Amino acid sequence: MSYSQLISITSMNSHYKINFFWILLLFSSVLFACKSEDAVAPIPKPDIKPDTIVPLDTTGLRKVSPFPFGAALSIDLLKTKAIYRSTVIKEFNSLTPENVMKMKNISLGRGQYKWDDADYLVLFAQQNAMRVHGHALVWYKSTPDWVTNFVGTKEDWKLILHEYIVAVVGRYKGKISSWDVLNEAIMDDGTYRDCVWLQHIGIEYIDLCFLYAREADPNVLLFYNEYGTEYSTAKRTAVNKLVADLKGRYVPIDGIGLQMHTSISRANSDIQNAIAVAAQTGLKIHISEFDIKVNPDKLQDIIFNATLAAAQKEKYRITVKALFDLPASQRYGFTFWGVCDTNSWIPAEYGCPDWPLPFDSNYKRKDAYSGLLEGLK
Ligand code: G3I
Repeated sequence: MSYSQLISITSMNSHYKINFFWILLLFSSVLFACKSEDAVAPIPKPDIKPDTIVPLDTTGLRKVSPFPFGAALSIDLLKTKAIYRSTVIKEFNSLTPENVMKMKNISLGRGQYKWDDADYLVLFAQQNAMRVHGHALVWYKSTPDWVTNFVGTKEDWKLILHEYIVAVVGRYKGKISSWDVLNEAIMDDGTYRDCVWLQHIGIEYIDLCFLYAREADPNVLLFYNEYGTEYSTAKRTAVNKLVADLKGRYVPIDGIGLQMHTSISRANSDIQNAIAVAAQTGLKIHISEFDIKVNPDKLQDIIFNATLAAAQKEKYRITVKALFDLPASQRYGFTFWGVCDTNSWIPAEYGCPDWPLPFDSNYKRKDAYSGLLEGLK
């Protein structure tokens, strides 16, 4: 037998061995899936290319901060833009899905779910030693049509809420550290916001969201997430009252998310006060959707100059410092709503240019980033 024949037989054997290995793996996965009581499919194999897993940088925020830093991630940018992906891996050890875990994105109909994007983010986090903060189980702005149009008794409404929360939290049990269980349920005047759940179940729906989430994962941390507590005393007070009510009735809640979509014109004391007041509950505090607008007056011809950059840096510094000054057990983390200025939701939403995030359009660290580092001293 020639040398080349020998090589070809050897490689054929190893080819069959590899195939046999994959068949065996597939067979055992099917067996495992059949045994599972959970009706949902297991999370698929990662499709992340090995070359995208870069070594940790010693200077990233994740390395220098005593609490996690994170960003709300766009699944599309993560899949398609290398510099976005490498910046995320280098800087952050926590991620929040910007959209893909919202009910409108996941829930296609009763008992029908679209998991692929959410699964992708969870795997990405696992492969890069990042924690996942789930966002958001119940949010009035993300109610699918099938829910809005649902017809049933109060008990039927409780049932669909239960089915949804248990399916989603259950799927990621042990893989997600925390959830925004309820998002923006309070108005600026401190009253409860109208939504289909309130209409059909009554105020008890709030308890149920937290109870169902706890039922599905006894270890995941449960957050109430809200915006505007830096400008509304009524809302700030109402959030703390809600927390006290929940705790008083032994409804599980572990943390408060302060979105903190604010601007350079917001007084430092307002930001500091919002954080300090929420911390009086004793719960964990997450600065959960941070960005600082530099164009609050919505000017069309504005240029991002050194004065605006310095003002923004100062807001970054004092906000991080306010979180840093809390007891270590209450500093849950600091999350930006986006990574670089060009992927912020703000210009599209407000119809004007803005530069709210810590990285510029070329993913270079802005002065704001130095403000973060100064706030950690
Ligand atoms: O993905 C589709 C795309 O296929 C389509 O071409 C495009 C056309 O408009 O729409 C895309 O979806 C949009 C999605 O953002 C991704 O860009 C949705 O229409 C749009 O509604 C969605 O907006 C998100 C918004 O929440 C509503 O879910 C923003 O990205 C997201 O930043 C924003 O985040 C919220 C937090 O969840 C809660 N706190 C406030 C914050 C800002 O509004």
